[in-house]
Amino acid sequence: MPHAYHLSNAAELFTPSLVFFPELIRKNIARTVEMAGSASRLRPHAKTHKTREITRMQLEAGVTKHKCATIAEAEILADSGVPDVLLAYALVGPNGKRFGALAKKFPNTRFAALFDCSISLNTLAVAAQEAGRPLGAMIDLNVGMDRSGIVIGDDALALYEQAAKTPGLYADGLHAYDGHTRHSDPAERLAFVRGILDSVLAFQKRIEQRGLSVPKIVAGGTPSFPCYASIRDVPHLECSPGTYVLHDHGYGANFPDYAMIPAAVLLTRVISRPTPTRVTFDLGNKSVAPDPILTKRVYLLDAPEHTVVTHSEEHLVIETAEADRYQPGDLVYALPGHICPSVALHQEVFIAEGGRVVGRWEVAARNRFITV
Ligand SMILES: Cc1ncc(COP(=O)(O)O)c(C=O)c1O
Repeated sequence: MPHAYHLSNAAELFTPSLVFFPELIRKNIARTVEMAGSASRLRPHAKTHKTREITRMQLEAGVTKHKCATIAEAEILADSGVPDVLLAYALVGPNGKRFGALAKKFPNTRFAALFDCSISLNTLAVAAQEAGRPLGAMIDLNVGMDRSGIVIGDDALALYEQAAKTPGLYADGLHAYDGHTRHSDPAERLAFVRGILDSVLAFQKRIEQRGLSVPKIVAGGTPSFPCYASIRDVPHLECSPGTYVLHDHGYGANFPDYAMIPAAVLLTRVISRPTPTRVTFDLGNKSVAPDPILTKRVYLLDAPEHTVVTHSEEHLVIETAEADRYQPGDLVYALPGHICPSVALHQEVFIAEGGRVVGRWEVAARNRFITV
């Protein structure tokens, strides 16, 4: 078996399962700190790993500022000792009070959340009231992805001013997530990212001209991380990649310049050979996320040329001229196309060290509720 993930005790392991390789995770964290120039320039996103253990590994590497998408993730981060948590999500409805209760429960953690309109801003003010202490309010800018955020302009300026004046909140800077940065060519990617950052910096200047402060800019995900990491003349710029820590085949294929190592591998077994050219694995969409498109959903290591033809709840079916290489029971290692939603499908993951599985970690923030 030529690939680097071979496990000497694989025969004992149930499938389908997901295996994390902490030695590789540590390398990805260290490489990211090195690329950023300092751990203080990082604010990694916890949605990829959702675990206490990886949070602690990042803390050990000096990464004290973290980002998350759910209140459960925020609780796991605070409970693991993270001193600075940004909920990179707008609060609406009862999540305001709930976020406030979380801030009350963890008084040693600094909390902030996003807003992009008066409704989410007011909900954040409710959170601060519930917490009984000030919370950070970071404006979410729509820098071209068109998923959330307010476009840069007069309305955004007025909204930022409104945040600065809201009792219980302090205006905490600018959030610029660019999930539409997808250029494979590193130079093209850098030029695109520089364009986004320049518009954010120009907006920052307008805010400061009104006498308000912009303590930080939180920007980017994994594809744009090397670009933001290389920009050293913006001292308050924090980079917020998430996927990098486990990495996946999707990013690996799209961004070949990217020096991260996939640190999470799926184990699957052949369960059937329904036709002479088909092989069926126990790797349904309840164990590897149905994302991205079918043909890129999963990368089977050491497999012959094949096409994924169907993917249902418990079955992954491939078509290959070399189907007779397989028989039921054969173990195959696979890289997920998209690791983040795949992790969220597993309550526990196996941990491999020294070429064998030695334990398990709970994917703690997979739960929607922890205690708050
Ligand atoms: C707001 C926000 N920040 C950061 C990230 C991290 O991006 P990536 O998964 O590319 O590392 C994401 C990913 O979904 C995100 O939504």
